[in-house]
Amino acid sequence: MGARKALPAVPQYLQANYWWAYIHPRAVYVFERQWLVNLILWGNYRRLCNAVLNGFGRHLSGRALQIACAYGDLTPRLAACIAPGGTLEVVDILPIQIENLASKLAHDAPVKLHCMDSAALQFPDASFDRALLFFLLHEQPQAVRQKTLAEALRVIRPGGTLTIVDYAPPSRLNPLCYLWLPVLERLEPFARDLFSEKIAAWLPKGGGFATVSERRYFGGLYQMLTLRISGTVPDRKADA
Ligand SMILES: C[S@@+](CC[C@H](N)C(=O)[O-])C[C@H]1O[C@@H](n2cnc3c(N)ncnc32)[C@H](O)[C@@H]1O
Repeated sequence: MGARKALPAVPQYLQANYWWAYIHPRAVYVFERQWLVNLILWGNYRRLCNAVLNGFGRHLSGRALQIACAYGDLTPRLAACIAPGGTLEVVDILPIQIENLASKLAHDAPVKLHCMDSAALQFPDASFDRALLFFLLHEQPQAVRQKTLAEALRVIRPGGTLTIVDYAPPSRLNPLCYLWLPVLERLEPFARDLFSEKIAAWLPKGGGFATVSERRYFGGLYQMLTLRISGTVPDRKADA
């Protein structure tokens, strides 16, 4: 983390709705447990992480960006897939979450950590080969969610991919529709958007990307969406 850079302000939505999960000094102690993260995702944590790793081909060359930390072992597993010469960069708005992630990584892991707002990424355009949004969008109000998506697409190079894993509008036959969603909506007030709209609703309208794949998991409750940025891949040799 760049120690001299000013830290971004903690957004109001995070302070008001997620102080207990991410900001409270005991939050990391309580939630940084693989079994608990798995329980919150109804036993689907490993399956969804595997879907991400398989989608990336388990061999990541170039620069990868994870937008927001997550509890559990996803980032150490991603780091283990980074090819020689490649890097994984992770941003999160909370220093406590960055510090927790640092404690889960090997000291020589090819990972750089940044305290940064997903809605205002401090990276140049087209500077990453791929980016990942793992269960971030449902925590953000619509206006922030739209900025996060626009920023993620901005920093990926043409031909690169954006992978999004999050809640989805479940099938009406899924019994969790009636049991779990009301609980989740109380705990996570912006999650209801993900249960009623497709992610396409918050993507920039100008295009510049195409859907590569859209998969559903666990009776439709979770989704993995992969977008590819269109345009010409910059000729890096010409820049040299
Ligand atoms: C990506 S979500 C992951 C939630 C998931 N339940 C898990 O496994 O931890 C949670 C993270 O998003 C971060 N976050 C929320 N809003 C953010 C923002 N605007 N910019 C960067 N990070 C943000 C929080 O600080 C938190 O560490």
